[in-house]
Amino acid sequence: MPPELRTRYLGLELRSPLVASAGPHTGDLDTLARLEDAGAGAVVLPSLFEEQIEREELATHGVLEAGAGTFAEAPGGWFPHVQDYNTGPDRYLTLLEQARERLAIPVIASLNATTSGGWVRYARLLQQAGADALELNVYRVEAGADRTGRDVEAEVLELVGDVRASIDIPLAVKLSPYWSALGSFAPAVVDAGADGLVLFNRFMQPDLDLDTLTVAPRASLSGPDDVRLPLRWIALLHGRVRASLAASGGVHDAGAAAKLLLAGADVVMATSAVLREGAGWFAAAEAGLLAWMAEREYESVGQLRGSVSHRTAEDPRAFERANYVRTLKSWAAPLPGNRS
Ligand SMILES: Cc1cc2nc3c(=O)[nH]c(=O)nc-3n(C[C@H](O)[C@H](O)[C@H](O)COP(=O)(O)O)c2cc1C
Repeated sequence: MPPELRTRYLGLELRSPLVASAGPHTGDLDTLARLEDAGAGAVVLPSLFEEQIEREELATHGVLEAGAGTFAEAPGGWFPHVQDYNTGPDRYLTLLEQARERLAIPVIASLNATTSGGWVRYARLLQQAGADALELNVYRVEAGADRTGRDVEAEVLELVGDVRASIDIPLAVKLSPYWSALGSFAPAVVDAGADGLVLFNRFMQPDLDLDTLTVAPRASLSGPDDVRLPLRWIALLHGRVRASLAASGGVHDAGAAAKLLLAGADVVMATSAVLREGAGWFAAAEAGLLAWMAEREYESVGQLRGSVSHRTAEDPRAFERANYVRTLKSWAAPLPGNRS
């Protein structure tokens, strides 16, 4: 008997813990079907953005044209790019309905938002369109000098509470790694109504173009070493929050998936690897995971989940700061060009 891959995430039964996280590829119906055929346990659609919803509402009421000059500043300045990304709220709902009809695996919709507001009603529309769960992506860059970390956390918690109150389907919250005290903030997000945490979103850092001397928005894909960030935090939070844990970031092969499951993830998500290798990545990663589990006589994902988390590891301090100096000293390679 091959090892059992089935897992539960947000109360949903998944045939495999390998999940397709949000990206341009999950915004296309045929590609979603290919991801399912290749073995993805669930798919997360790309995010629908708060600004898109607000813009559509303004357009519907004719306000957009009247105030075009001011709207260009906020939030319209970067808006055309977003519009190109996922085609807007109406088509998003259509894609969701079609995906729900065509796929047997759970289809998770995603909303990107930073503030609570009238647009939250879209969460309910996504539920009505058939989403099995909602992922709330709170991607934000706090650059204002007038706002404290405490303000930002309070705003996110209010937002999570408002979205929770507007839907009955499970709610996951996708966080960035840049919180000053994630150990306390993560359980607070759960208390505010999240059924699961997705750790982490990948922040796109702007670049400068040396020819044009302009800021160049460039999406960059992760590499295999990036898995260490979710690995640490999944291990630290496993068993400490009453919520499902999804790992996202740097999952490029079966080995990375196995590590994250050992650390305590309920599901392991991939975007960059799939953008590089195509939908077939899921079939290869599943075969690799099954082979690894069989070799070590693991019978199920449930059996390996969390067996090397912070609570269960032989040396839990390795997940914390204690190992900092030891890690720095572990770099023993001589400088190129030096004899020793
Ligand atoms: C081109 C691109 C587009 C993405 N779009 C979204 C999105 O719409 N919503 C979201 O929550 N995450 C989005 N992500 C983040 C991914 O879902 C994922 O969390 C992140 O890339 C880390 O995983 P990876 O290392 O497997 O890429 C995007 C990532 C990339 C590279």
